[in-house]
Amino acid sequence: MTATSSGRVVIAPSLLAADFGRLREEVAAVTEAGADWLHFDIMDGRFVPNISFGPQVLSALRPHSALPFDVHLMIAPADPFISAFAEAGADHISIHPEAGPHPHRTLQLIRSLGKKAGVVLNPGTPIESIAWLLDLADIVLVMSVNPGFGGQRFLPSQLRKIAALRRMIDDPARGGPLGSNPATHPVALAVDGGITPETAALALAAGADTLIAGTSVFAAPDRAAAIAALRDPNGAASRAGEQRGEAG
Ligand code: DX5
Ligand code: ZN
Repeated sequence: MTATSSGRVVIAPSLLAADFGRLREEVAAVTEAGADWLHFDIMDGRFVPNISFGPQVLSALRPHSALPFDVHLMIAPADPFISAFAEAGADHISIHPEAGPHPHRTLQLIRSLGKKAGVVLNPGTPIESIAWLLDLADIVLVMSVNPGFGGQRFLPSQLRKIAALRRMIDDPARGGPLGSNPATHPVALAVDGGITPETAALALAAGADTLIAGTSVFAAPDRAAAIAALRDPNGAASRAGEQRGEAG
């Protein structure tokens, strides 16, 4: 079961790894290279130990891309800024449940603005923390690094969490008799941090359907090849083997 009706893996390059002096060109380049969503990492220097950018950057880029803007809020509190990101052009807004006392209310707010709502689990956050938020979520995002910086190594401990969330999302009874269920309400299962073709293969095998990738897309000389390799990591490995003259 995947969140996309086509079953196609969704690739969302994270602009945190882009050249900030050329953001418009970087957005055009990854759009052209086959990205499905654009991932915006919003950091406040408080919830995470880094500062990135705010809604003005989304507004400035909005006219230059038709792709969904996928906003990952690493700010606390998040509620006062939700409407600003919605107005700036966000299509998806994801929050960490630790960012405030009422994450359920925050998801209601995001939905009330007509945006898709996401919940993000830090590496140390148990899946139970979102069990009663899932009914309001369109995206569940597993951090496979501690949030705050690009270029970190993928944490393999998160693979079991992805598999457990896959079961939770696919549970036909997940929303109760009146709530969401997998047939009527798909939920994307995304992984963010340290995604390379090698870790993409592991995350997809564990049940993810959406991959956020900064460094492995923006640092690649050929972004289209980088995106294709994440979307089909096993194909990429076997093609590389063929080029080296290996069997299979
Ligand atoms: C980390 C961010 C990630 C990060 C991914 O706080 O949420 O989106 O930019 O970057 P890479 O792919 O370089 O780990
Ligand atoms: Zn992110």
